[in-house]
Amino acid sequence: MRAAVDEDRCRGHGVCLTICPEVFDLTDDGYAEAIVPQVPPELEDAVLKAVRSCPERAISAD
Ligand code: F3S
Repeated sequence: MRAAVDEDRCRGHGVCLTICPEVFDLTDDGYAEAIVPQVPPELEDAVLKAVRSCPERAISAD
């Protein structure tokens, strides 16, 4: 699975890094990025939960 954050949609709510800090982090300008774009299998469930939980629908995973 690969994960990505759409920087045009992200508003820095931070839900994603609360759910899965192993994959998501905030940049210095306050928006999220996927620091581990190739998601290990054991973190896939957490990434999918982050996808569902982002208020801006900014995260994609496939
Ligand atoms: Fe941004 Fe959504 Fe995370 S708005 S900080 S990608 S919860």
